[in-house]
Amino acid sequence: MNFPKIASLKTADAFQSRLNEIGAPMPFDETVEAGAGSTLWQPIDSGAGVIGNRWTILPMEGWDGEADGTPTDLTRRRWRNFGLSGAGLIWGGEAVAVRHDGRANPNQLMLNDATASSIESLREELVGEHVKAFGSDDGLVVGLQLTHSGRYARPNDKKRLEPRIAYRHPVLDPRAGVTDDGAILSDDDLDRLVDDFIAAAVLAQKIGYAFIDVKHCHGYLGHELLSGFDRPGKYGGDFEGRTRFLRNVVAGVRAAAPGLAIGVRLSVFDYSPYKPGPDGDGVPEVAGAYPYAFGGDGQGGIDLTEPSKFLSLLKELGIRLVCTTCGSPYYNPHIQRPAAFPPSDGYQPPEDPLAGVARQIDATAKLKSEHPDLVIVGSGYTYLQDWLPNVGQAAVRSGMVDSIGLGRMVLSYPDLPADVFAGKSLVRKRVCRTFSECTTAPRNGIVSGCYPLDPFYKERPEREQVLAITKGK
Ligand SMILES: Cc1cc2nc3c(=O)[nH]c(=O)nc-3n(C[C@H](O)[C@H](O)[C@H](O)COP(=O)(O)O)c2cc1C
Ligand code: SF4
Repeated sequence: MNFPKIASLKTADAFQSRLNEIGAPMPFDETVEAGAGSTLWQPIDSGAGVIGNRWTILPMEGWDGEADGTPTDLTRRRWRNFGLSGAGLIWGGEAVAVRHDGRANPNQLMLNDATASSIESLREELVGEHVKAFGSDDGLVVGLQLTHSGRYARPNDKKRLEPRIAYRHPVLDPRAGVTDDGAILSDDDLDRLVDDFIAAAVLAQKIGYAFIDVKHCHGYLGHELLSGFDRPGKYGGDFEGRTRFLRNVVAGVRAAAPGLAIGVRLSVFDYSPYKPGPDGDGVPEVAGAYPYAFGGDGQGGIDLTEPSKFLSLLKELGIRLVCTTCGSPYYNPHIQRPAAFPPSDGYQPPEDPLAGVARQIDATAKLKSEHPDLVIVGSGYTYLQDWLPNVGQAAVRSGMVDSIGLGRMVLSYPDLPADVFAGKSLVRKRVCRTFSECTTAPRNGIVSGCYPLDPFYKERPEREQVLAITKGK
């Protein structure tokens, strides 16, 4: 599909006319405020400590840990960049597996007794960089994202999926090579996994993290369980069954790690898996009725009734920190991380990516209006590029969200929040243009990073390989 690139929408009028043209309304402030007292520099109490401003660094892994689950220099560099961004909230750093069979790749970080001190030093390096840049760590809150990759586990070989699934799925099973029920995690398996989450949470608290995120997004296990409508047994079926995993983890963490705050990153809606259509543009693989979407209306659209009920449950469980996202980067990346250029295993955008950004902003605002007492971080803003601060500020100012999450943008331009605070114009050559190479690289077994714009990755030997893959697709 043809759509104007953001860099060509040079004025606020041009940007807003495009939004009107495609029916994707978004809040927008003509002027971005700077300095202490500005909209994006208001503190907020999160239950995990006071967060000094309204910028959040979203979790982003780099496929660059050691085989034993400890970080490498590349991991440490990324976390230091998170620290110098100026963002007050670090939502989890990156997905960290609670055990080996739940790793999304053989280089994913893993938290256990043997790795804990190295994951502690990751946090310390991040905080150190923040203090170097801003003089103190007041207002900095750092959490750790805990995960089991479920259907997308590749613990032993980058090229080999070893799925552990919640239920059989007619479209995703063939994609993952699942041909029988052997891949399904039994109720006993899930009971043991709950224990592994609790053990990891205890370690996270011990090594200084202010909260853990019990990951429930992007098609990984926590998220998949939420759509296990037909799964028999205690971890499936009705809302109570589908949320039992979360409730058991939370109860165990409360008992074993008292005082540790908990957050949840949630895919608040989902669509059918997509595939390239005849002209390369993405089309839903299941057109019409699609009963496997948490936050879906059963017909391929969105219904936030259950996600809203889920947020009510979080409140009952004493959880205040929520990060909204949607879908999955594996089966419908255009809704999850709107981009001008698809990753190598994706499809051409079936809509102007601005529509994808607007969809996430709108869903988040609806949930925020129903749950004003939760601290809600939004995602998917990077595609806004030069206009990100204008939209982010307006969304926070109008109470549609509490904090603006930055994903890809922080890979190309880590100190964007600091530049906004200082009242500087954005440095155009550092603004992420959503080339998707940070997704293409790991899909092809290569470490992730911003190969097009980050001078450090531009120099790395893998760059030629990534370029060749991108050109060949
Ligand atoms: C390279 C890469 C790695 C990511 N890793 C994670 C992860 O470990 N955990 C997670 O919840 N989301 C992960 N995400 C998703 C981002 O947190 C974010 O939701 C997404 O990029 C959309 O936000 P953006 O538009 O600011 O990029 C990753 C995204 C990218 C591009
Ligand atoms: S590779 Fe760089 S420019 Fe491309 S999407 Fe990732 S962060 Fe943005």
